Amino acid sequence: MPRKRSQPGFLDDNAVVERVLGHIRNRTTDMGGEVWREPTGNYSSEKRFAAERELLRRTTAPFCPSAALPEKGSYVAREAAGVPILAVRGEDGEVRAFRNACRHRGMQVAQGTGCAKSFVCGYHGWTYRLDGSLRHIPHEHGFPGLDKDKHGLVPVRAEERHGLVFVTQEGKGTRDATLEKMPALIDSEQAIFACSESVVQANWKILLEGFIEGYHIRATHKDTFFPYGFDNLNVVETLGRHSRITYPFRRIEKLAALPPAQRRVDGLLTYVYQLFPNVLITVLSRHTNVVILEPLTPATTRQISYGLTNRGLSDEAARKEVERDAQFVTQTGAAEDRAVVAAIQRGLGAGANSHFTFGRFEGAIVHFHRTLRAAL
Ligand code: FES
Ligand SMILES: [Fe+2]
Repeated sequence: MPRKRSQPGFLDDNAVVERVLGHIRNRTTDMGGEVWREPTGNYSSEKRFAAERELLRRTTAPFCPSAALPEKGSYVAREAAGVPILAVRGEDGEVRAFRNACRHRGMQVAQGTGCAKSFVCGYHGWTYRLDGSLRHIPHEHGFPGLDKDKHGLVPVRAEERHGLVFVTQEGKGTRDATLEKMPALIDSEQAIFACSESVVQANWKILLEGFIEGYHIRATHKDTFFPYGFDNLNVVETLGRHSRITYPFRRIEKLAALPPAQRRVDGLLTYVYQLFPNVLITVLSRHTNVVILEPLTPATTRQISYGLTNRGLSDEAARKEVERDAQFVTQTGAAEDRAVVAAIQRGLGAGANSHFTFGRFEGAIVHFHRTLRAAL
């Protein structure tokens, strides 16, 4: 499991436990260096939204977990930063990605997810191999002089790292050294047990902010997460453009009685990794969630979620436990978060705030906004 390894760049598990136990003893939490005022116009402005999507297109960004493309011909087609993209594992096992538009008249050649031997455009039947090359044109004599070699699907850069498929749509991308320092967040034994998509009526940044602070635990999650966790007790770390928030469970206190070498964090805390800008990887006790926030409009976001088991799914009992955990998180606590983000979005319309104020408990959000502003 990924969380047992030391995390170069982030604290190792033992250091996290030390810091958490210290916070429990002293009734403290990690504090950021500054208070940040983010203009509310940045959540509603069309101009800002366009700039953010443009940034996403030139960012090397996670597109899906590698496990979503388990075999030759497996594909995922979805919009990324408003652009239809198709990622597919080829005959040679390599993942490639293309602009998902037929070279005849632009229809998408694949939808959703699946497994294919080739991609046949649904409009007139132009057919592409898994490597994107154009294999067949029905009634080809109607296109005299057309060079099939020049009419393959248009590639974008794709690469697999950390158990994720990263896509770079434009430019050289942003392969930052800090991301290289992160170990695989998802390893090859982890399998997808659930996958869902929903459209949330909120700006993508409002959704994101809810994942990366623990200051709201008591007020928002009084009967769901709070009975097991702490209010406003987190370890907040940043690594380059990214961050990680640790949410300890109350039962982590029992580790105080153990020598550090015998301490195991399994089941005692949740790590939330934010991969800049729009991806969250939540490592829970038995499963890992990958959440991709796809901005649709300034006021709507498609949330794409993958649930991956931390253990083999071969054991039926283990699978049931994973599903029960995932159900608890998504049906209860996450539902409370969804209600909050939709309300904040409506609150923008109230015109009460010229800016939102992020305090020193919300340091990962401050880091996110500062990084985003600099990147734009
Ligand atoms: S648009 Fe694809 S075959 Fe015509
Ligand atoms: Fe929450």
